[in-house]
Amino acid sequence: MTDKNQEDIKQFFKQNRMFGGDVISVSQFESLTIKFLYDLFISLKNDSSEYSKLLKNKVMTALFYEPSTRTSASFISAMSRLGGSVIPITQGVHYSSVSKGESFEDTIKTLECYSDVIVLRHPEIGSAKIAADITTIPIVNAGDGAGEHPTQALLDVFTIFEEVDCTKELTIAFVGDLRFGRTVHSLVRLLCKLSTNIKFTFVSPEVLRMPTNILDEIRGYNIKYDETSVLNLDIPDIFYITRIQKERFTDEDQYNKLKGTYIITRNSLVDMKQSAIIMHPLPRVGEIHPEVDEDHRAVYFRQVKNGLYARMALLLAVLHG
Ligand code: NCD
Repeated sequence: MTDKNQEDIKQFFKQNRMFGGDVISVSQFESLTIKFLYDLFISLKNDSSEYSKLLKNKVMTALFYEPSTRTSASFISAMSRLGGSVIPITQGVHYSSVSKGESFEDTIKTLECYSDVIVLRHPEIGSAKIAADITTIPIVNAGDGAGEHPTQALLDVFTIFEEVDCTKELTIAFVGDLRFGRTVHSLVRLLCKLSTNIKFTFVSPEVLRMPTNILDEIRGYNIKYDETSVLNLDIPDIFYITRIQKERFTDEDQYNKLKGTYIITRNSLVDMKQSAIIMHPLPRVGEIHPEVDEDHRAVYFRQVKNGLYARMALLLAVLHG
């Protein structure tokens, strides 16, 4: 879609299969949906002015039971740039009636009365699905505990499409907290759906290995993977580095022992391919030294920027018809 006049936009949206639906897991993203969203993402990134009023009179509630910087801010920015408005419950639900003991169900049913979409982050796996079953308006999962983070996976694959030659076989190293890292769970699942020309290397301490149900899914796609605790720098085309998820640990000593297991520094760059890319969903808490940021292979701040356009595309798909 290059000519972005309103008639073209109308025609383009005839391919939209997401209108009015929930976004709970990447398992619902078919390749045609990804193509639609990616085309829209590229168009928005080039020039979003033609889209700036399409969500006029629409209201998005951002309901965040867990901390967030990028996900909440990019959703709010995306909604504003499309002409919509926002009910932000992102500064901690303790300022809402949740602190008075209101149930999750009642909170969702109440916010449904004021909103056209609820973007939800919650510490429990499956919470987005529970919310979707309670309400008729779309729920977008912005992270359900250690479960999934589908909109992050979307911006991650769009970054890969832009930054890497996807016609070659790619080796993708996932590094860090693979057990609790929901961005890893969603991205691995999405990549399995999109390509067979990939190989995964899962690099983590023994206690933070990939959940076995996801490994079963990968085998179901006939995609090769290995698991190791040693980070080899010379083979991967993509490094997806993650933070050890402190908030998911009950034993602080164990967290303290594990943090800092893998750190990417300027020295690490020497052994990496020139064509490799280094991704991170952020926040980083020491896994990538800031001295790496200037290297052309560091794409994590480009991921951040892509998050805005990916979420604009998603909100349009769900709300614009
Ligand atoms: C991630 C998350 O919340 O799962 N952050 C994000 O949304 N970009 C990753 C993390 O917190 O480690």
